[in-house]
Amino acid sequence: GYPQCLTITVLGASGDLARKKTYPALFSLWKAGHVPFNTKILGYARSKLELDEFKGKIRLFLKDSSNEKIEHFLSICDYVQGEYSSIEEGPPCFSGLNEVIEQLEREVEVNWKENAFITPSTSAAENKKYKRVVGNRIFYLALPPVVYPSVCAEIKASAMSSTKGSWTRVVVEKPFGKDLESSEKLNQSLSALFSEEQLYRIDHYLGKELVQNLVVMRFANRFISPLWNRDNIANVQIIFKEPFGTEGRGGYFDDYGIIRDVIQNHLLQIMCLVAMEKPCSLSPDDIRDEKLKVLRCIAPVSTDNVVVGQYSTGPHGQPAYVDDPGVPENSMAPTFCTCVMYVKNERWDGVPFIIKAGKALNEAKCEIRVQFKDVPGDLFESRRVQGKQARNEFVVRLQPDPTIFMKMTVKEPGLDMNLAQSELELLYTTRYQRVAIPEAYERLILDCINGDQQHFVRRDELVAAWTIFTPLLKYIDAGGMKPYPYPYGSVGPYEANALRERVGHQTNVIG
Ligand code: BG6
Repeated sequence: GYPQCLTITVLGASGDLARKKTYPALFSLWKAGHVPFNTKILGYARSKLELDEFKGKIRLFLKDSSNEKIEHFLSICDYVQGEYSSIEEGPPCFSGLNEVIEQLEREVEVNWKENAFITPSTSAAENKKYKRVVGNRIFYLALPPVVYPSVCAEIKASAMSSTKGSWTRVVVEKPFGKDLESSEKLNQSLSALFSEEQLYRIDHYLGKELVQNLVVMRFANRFISPLWNRDNIANVQIIFKEPFGTEGRGGYFDDYGIIRDVIQNHLLQIMCLVAMEKPCSLSPDDIRDEKLKVLRCIAPVSTDNVVVGQYSTGPHGQPAYVDDPGVPENSMAPTFCTCVMYVKNERWDGVPFIIKAGKALNEAKCEIRVQFKDVPGDLFESRRVQGKQARNEFVVRLQPDPTIFMKMTVKEPGLDMNLAQSELELLYTTRYQRVAIPEAYERLILDCINGDQQHFVRRDELVAAWTIFTPLLKYIDAGGMKPYPYPYGSVGPYEANALRERVGHQTNVIG
């Protein structure tokens, strides 16, 4: 085929996301040989930085490698300084960026034609037949969403790839709006410029190893698939706990709150993968069609099924949420939420999906807990002090320490016939010692390079997700729900556990 080259432009290159996530992910991909030959990485931002200064900022976050490797990677990185929208009557602000990209493409072309190093197997004469190198382009917007429309308009006006057979892809990060209306407004402005195939909406939870495993676990195991329904499952919990507060991000967070920050996107996406029917195939759209059906079977969350909280000072002098700079002292933004949703379809009707998410809690944990119903015809009732069965649970722990385990009841070893709960456990660090689990961003950027949209959020999914949460969010924003205070470092407000129990979750106690 034609010679190809790829330019990945990271917009917002000097910001936190780019330095902490995007560049390290690109580095890992490059190290492992997953970045196509002839790839250049261009950082673009408003800061006036010399190339070396910029590289210095990036270098700080590139770990686990020899200096030589790091320097080699940095040699494919460049930096362009510029604005994110044109000033009236001035030149389009991305025309300079476009020139740099074209220049890079020309260099590849010259090398190609001279057969300097690209295809030792073909002759220079043969290479001359190609008029142009196919210059593909990825624009990664590591930027606040307010600038998406202007930046995308600039890309469209001045920086699209133009060589025959080439493609342009645009990667955007959440938040995609604040509610259904604002998200649709954003969608409309982006889809006036790009097709759905060109837009990659990242939800980095979809890139996590154990989230990707859900499709395999559910549909490749005979002992799971027949039990995965309302006849056998009592409730499903999706839990996200962080042991730190907003820590300086309060200014952003206060406008969003925990529901927009992690529930409406990350945790709801997980819920879709737990609840969806078997797709017709593994094609990205077949899978996304099934996720969409789940979303469309979930009614907007009822305020009766929600408990919100906000962290207060902790026992060891930890600050309250309202102490974070940028947070108004009377803020009512939730930093914690437990909510219950139902998927009204044949498989799940009546099964509560309990989502619990909070910052400044007692531990770092993200897991899915599928709790099974009691065993009918309980043979061991008379032996129990409390008269309750311990329920089976299937647990998928995303982090820390990715693990899959099954809680089951067994006979406690010994002469007596006592019951105990035990675990069948697959701990990744033990079982897959030699495999480095890829970072979510690595996988997703690679998917984008390969044109695979399976793990990116489609517009209709986004609309359906916002439809579920918008009425609740509006109610909360209007001051309808006062968050319960909970101390920094605690398990969250007591009321959340009460809600969980009200809908039928059972805390396992054997006795
Ligand atoms: C982000 C949220 O999307 O996800 C953060 O904005 C949150 O508030 C983060 O801390 C969690 O991601 P991870 O991969 O660290 O679990």
